[in-house]
Amino acid sequence: MSQLALLEQEARDTIERTDSLKSLDEVRVSLLGKKGVLTEQLKALGAASVEEKKTKGKELNLLKQTVTELIDARQQELERATINKRLSEERVDITLPIREEQRGSIHPITQVLDEITAIFADFGFSVAEGPDIEDDFHNFTALNIPESHPARQMHDTFYLQAKDDKGDHMVLRTHTSPVQVRTMMTQKPPIRIIAPGSTYRCDSDMTHTPMFHQVEGLVIDKGIHFGHLKGILRQFVEAFFGVSNVPMQFRPSFFPFTEPSAEVDIGCRKGKGELVIGEGSDWLEVLGCGMVHPNVLRNCGLDPDEWQGFAFGMGVERLAMLKYNIPDLRTFFESDLRWLQHYGFRAFDIPSLIKGL
Ligand code: PHE
Repeated sequence: MSQLALLEQEARDTIERTDSLKSLDEVRVSLLGKKGVLTEQLKALGAASVEEKKTKGKELNLLKQTVTELIDARQQELERATINKRLSEERVDITLPIREEQRGSIHPITQVLDEITAIFADFGFSVAEGPDIEDDFHNFTALNIPESHPARQMHDTFYLQAKDDKGDHMVLRTHTSPVQVRTMMTQKPPIRIIAPGSTYRCDSDMTHTPMFHQVEGLVIDKGIHFGHLKGILRQFVEAFFGVSNVPMQFRPSFFPFTEPSAEVDIGCRKGKGELVIGEGSDWLEVLGCGMVHPNVLRNCGLDPDEWQGFAFGMGVERLAMLKYNIPDLRTFFESDLRWLQHYGFRAFDIPSLIKGL
């Protein structure tokens, strides 16, 4: 066997024996690297005769090509083997049944927000949104709450370090009413929107959490009066609680941005650990509402002689507690998985008026 044939045989054997990409690379270096066996032989040709250069040069180059191909082929084999090994190790049996306790659920707040949205969508309302971080104008001034007005203290506002264009501190919105302002300033009436979202007040006890949820409602059109407001809210309450002829009382109240204003109570019976909506002689407050104050319309660029409207704001936690008999407000935010398991909803039970809420 010639020396080159021997070399080739040896190279074949070594390449075949490699069992990792790392050792294959070492073999590559030992054969074809700067100081590799083949490289050295090619270099040595420099001193050979013209004839030898021709024949041996050709053979050497052929061998180099063969070796390169062998290494590349082996590399592909090893790579495939690595992937196959990993695939078989990481194999997941997708036919296994799921583990019950790991199924996620929809938080009651999300559920109730979806329910409220479904009902108002049916009435022809669309959903509007605004930022959680508000400026003084949208959260207060435009809503007819001037500086030094006691209502500002009433709201226990969280003030931020950052200031707006006018030099007033930005706030975490204390209610969803600023979305009324944003909507009136950007959309032409008639307007029919609800604005669900998070709201913040510096208050924390049995019945208050620093973050909670509201759904704002706003209707602006011509010839709108308090009767429309009462009608919509009655329809809403009956759809939401799934009972008809719920006793409702509109108690005169005060909000700077509505005139007249009212708080709405619904009739219920409070028993031991249970609450029945629609019967009994107790009252429960569920929302605030009123006719949009002419000053607010003017602040938003609307002529109160042409446009009127009503607005309302409801507390989502309160409604969720009433509908689903959840006794403690704070549990909403404790992220206790057992609680979620108990009060949560299945992900595919999407609320709609057709299927029932
Ligand atoms: N923004 C009021 C609150 O947070 C609720 C409200 C909204 C009242 C709209 C009247 C009209 O208390």
